[in-house]
Amino acid sequence: MKGVILAGGLGSRLHPLTKVTNKHLLPVFDRPMIYYPIEALVRAGVEDVLVVTGGNSAGDFLKLLGNGRDFGLPTMNYTYQEGEGGIADALRLAKHFARGDDICVILGDNIFERSIRHAVAAYQDQGGGARILLKKVPDPERFGVPILDGDKVVRIEEKPESPQSDFAVVGIYMYDNRVFEIIETLEPSQRGELEITDVNNWYIDQGAMSWSEMEGWWTDAGTFESLLRANQLVASTGANNP
Ligand code: DAU
Repeated sequence: MKGVILAGGLGSRLHPLTKVTNKHLLPVFDRPMIYYPIEALVRAGVEDVLVVTGGNSAGDFLKLLGNGRDFGLPTMNYTYQEGEGGIADALRLAKHFARGDDICVILGDNIFERSIRHAVAAYQDQGGGARILLKKVPDPERFGVPILDGDKVVRIEEKPESPQSDFAVVGIYMYDNRVFEIIETLEPSQRGELEITDVNNWYIDQGAMSWSEMEGWWTDAGTFESLLRANQLVASTGANNP
């Protein structure tokens, strides 16, 4: 299993904080934001990590993360997304890195209280397909939202006006290598992006998607409110705890 962290995009919801730097380099309590998803992968036993960056200050990732030694990694891999074509567009750049292996993708602005080790192990046991994590939230309309039939996810809607459940799709996705073929078939959404939700709906249609509920808190950090919340949560409990 290889790990991919998506840290591209322009972070425009955090202007002016992101006018001269990349969102994922901003502090969350005592560390830069990007540290949290890297530590999540490392603590789940993933040793091959690619950071997809983009926008401003891409060179600063190299200065900050270097060869990955601070995280106990044998090396660190990087690539650069031009523009802001969406999460699936950023993921497309990981094809050469993955080289046929399964991947665990984490959005660079997502932070978790608990280790993702069990979810990664569950994916490895299921033998291919895809796996997502869901979490009950008070504001599902901000996220990808699953439509459930019993305990089966039958579709995911991206930022629906009238959410069909009170779950959000967390920014961790596990895929087999078909993901890169699927991305090539996607069309940009109304907001002009290649949507990860379209990738997930493909796996659902194939009957190849499984899910589990995330334990502990989860937050993104891409808006002023969620960035503040992320700081408060990390300060009170720490992140990626066993
Ligand atoms: O946080 C979970 C949510 O993330 C999911 O529930 C949604 O289904 C998913 O679409 C996504 O929603 P957002 O609209 O909040 O994603 P955002 O545009 O903030 O991007 C999240 C991360 O993805 C960002 O920190 C960096 C990476 N990204 C994003 C874009 C648009 C890229 O690397 N390149 C991009 O072009």
